[in-house]
Amino acid sequence: DMGGHDTYMHKEIHEQADAVDRVLRGRIDDRFSTVHLGGLNLDAREARRIRRVKILGCGTSYHAGMIGAQMIEELARIPADAEPASEFRYRNAVVDPDTLYIAVSQSGETYDVLAAVQELKRKGARVLGVVNVVGSAIAREADGGIYVHAGPEVCVVSTKCFTNTTVAFALLALHLGRTRDLSVRDGKRIIEGLRKLPAQISEILKQEELVRELAEEYAESRSMLFIGRVRGYPVAREASLKLKEITYIHAEAYPASELKHGPLALIEPALPTVAIVPDDDLLEKNRAALEEIKARSGKILAVAHQEQEKADRTIVVPKNEDELDPILMGIPLQLLAYHAAKVLGRDIDKPRNLAKSVTVE
Ligand code: F6R
Repeated sequence: DMGGHDTYMHKEIHEQADAVDRVLRGRIDDRFSTVHLGGLNLDAREARRIRRVKILGCGTSYHAGMIGAQMIEELARIPADAEPASEFRYRNAVVDPDTLYIAVSQSGETYDVLAAVQELKRKGARVLGVVNVVGSAIAREADGGIYVHAGPEVCVVSTKCFTNTTVAFALLALHLGRTRDLSVRDGKRIIEGLRKLPAQISEILKQEELVRELAEEYAESRSMLFIGRVRGYPVAREASLKLKEITYIHAEAYPASELKHGPLALIEPALPTVAIVPDDDLLEKNRAALEEIKARSGKILAVAHQEQEKADRTIVVPKNEDELDPILMGIPLQLLAYHAAKVLGRDIDKPRNLAKSVTVE
């Protein structure tokens, strides 16, 4: 039942405020400015012994993991990174007892992720799952974890589950942070930010008409470049993936900081750039990147917290705490991909060549 929407994708994009409300529900502990994650199976002493965090997932879940790694590093000050599970399992990686491994999966059935989990467990590692489907193979195989409570996701491409997974990681980062050295004050600040998310998502979705108009213009592109720096980079990657999956327009994501090391050569009026420009300590650096693109007659669409002078168009999104901004900044670009696919007459819920869960090697 699509409840009046023309596709599951559209329905699921619009379910995100409620979905985020669900992942937060019952987990916030105001007394200690932290969160409770019942299924983690990780006591405080164990949490303090973690020396590294390694996050494994595929596709969109990998991108959510990239955002999660940054949050864990920022809030808990534990070195963290994300890697495609599909790569990890084939490279005979060093498995380290002081590393916390986290497998991320919407379906909980993705074979590359499951195989990575099994290999890790065989070698004695502790593995947590950040999973949507309750009781799925990865959830069962993991030592504990967090359910992201996005609800059923029917469209082949992931939207609400991506958003909820990034929120689940914010909860984990806050929990690990408050078990270690994150101050009460920062804990409170993050909790306040988390509570604002559902209303801010609704606010973003109200701009759908503007985004639809932009999509009409961008649907004609042969290729698009997505850029972002640090917190903005995984957002750019995910937006680029969503666009290519459902429109079949070629799209590439690059760290904005890497532009001058190669991709600037591509800039010309026919290659539009979508830039993620959060209002954080890297704003000036990002503005400089927009200037570089503009100087080469590149067309720019910015997703930012304030109108960007160098951009042709800006989608303004509400500001949250710096660490939580990536949760929100990609949401208008889900709509951009959706409306561009619609203009092109694509089969949005079932893009060619793709399956909802990849249970084979
Ligand atoms: C993209 C998409 C895929 C999945 C990937 C992992 O929109 O849906 O990239 O994210 O196949 O799937 P899960 O999260 O079920 O492990």
